[in-house]
Amino acid sequence: MFDKDKKIIFSGIQPSGDFTIANYFGAIRNWVLLQNDYNSIFCVVDLHAITVPQEPAVLRRRSIECAAMILASGIDPEKSLLFFQSSVSAHSELCWLLNCNSYMGEMARMTQYKEKSVKQGDTIRVGLFDYPVLMAADILLYNTDIVPVGDDQTQHVELARNIAERFNHNYSPTFVVPEGYYGKAGSRIMSLANPEKKMSKSDENTNAFILMKDKRDVIMNKFKRAVTDSETEVYYDKEKKKGISNLLEIYSCAKGITIPEAEAECRGMSYAEFKECVGTAVADCLDPIQVRFEALMNDKPALEKILMDSADAARSIANKTLRKVQKKIGFYQFGSK
Ligand code: TRP
Repeated sequence: MFDKDKKIIFSGIQPSGDFTIANYFGAIRNWVLLQNDYNSIFCVVDLHAITVPQEPAVLRRRSIECAAMILASGIDPEKSLLFFQSSVSAHSELCWLLNCNSYMGEMARMTQYKEKSVKQGDTIRVGLFDYPVLMAADILLYNTDIVPVGDDQTQHVELARNIAERFNHNYSPTFVVPEGYYGKAGSRIMSLANPEKKMSKSDENTNAFILMKDKRDVIMNKFKRAVTDSETEVYYDKEKKKGISNLLEIYSCAKGITIPEAEAECRGMSYAEFKECVGTAVADCLDPIQVRFEALMNDKPALEKILMDSADAARSIANKTLRKVQKKIGFYQFGSK
């Protein structure tokens, strides 16, 4: 299935909630475009999801829905692999081997962990501390050249590079040292309720985000409530007009046009007209995805087959890397002289 002349990309997304349009415009839609030019491996990272408490039934439902939503968005199982991280045990195994080659000092510098540990105190899980090493294992198992991620993941990709380089140096060349790829458009979709904050599915205010599953009337309502400013004119200014600029960004993503093009289309509209226009564009964009999502969820056997076949293919690549690493580390090789 994979073309030897193409580079490999790997990316993961957590099944920690229903996807928002920030997940779609910032990540999934870029994957759909990239899959034509790269050997692409996408993973629903359920092992990462359990670094915070999860309700088992909810995790199970979200995992399959997330996979269905990624496929509905246009990830083509003929071109790309898409599987659950927990289906390929090499992720957990390589994580352990890399743990023993990572330093407390470098891990303690991870800002995402530091931020979370302030909130969670003493009952923060060891897994959350180790999260970046598991992510390094995800990436390094597949000889990944390029890792498309949001810019909040820069430090984690950098750590994966350091771990790879150190291992290559301490043993012998083993891992491909990956590069981060930080998409521009759509990677900073902000909350509709507070455009100073990133849009997040875990926001307690449900009007702050649009879910990929939201129906048209819900979408229109949420945009109607979106925070703007006390002026009356629609134009792009990230400093002075955070709310309106965010809406222009969303509009440009939904329409597949540039910000200046979006601005030109919407100049002269009242705020109410503009918000309705953004809502319609987003609903139109999500409509066909929702139809495909329903169809996939209504044919579980076919959906499961895609995920299982992908996991089989992923496993055979991942296990090769894992065996190589085990050998270099010095685990006993049966049958050797
Ligand atoms: N940490 C990533 C995020 O929150 C998700 C992730 C897990 C990932 N493993 C990965 C991304 C490997 C890229 C490559 O967005």
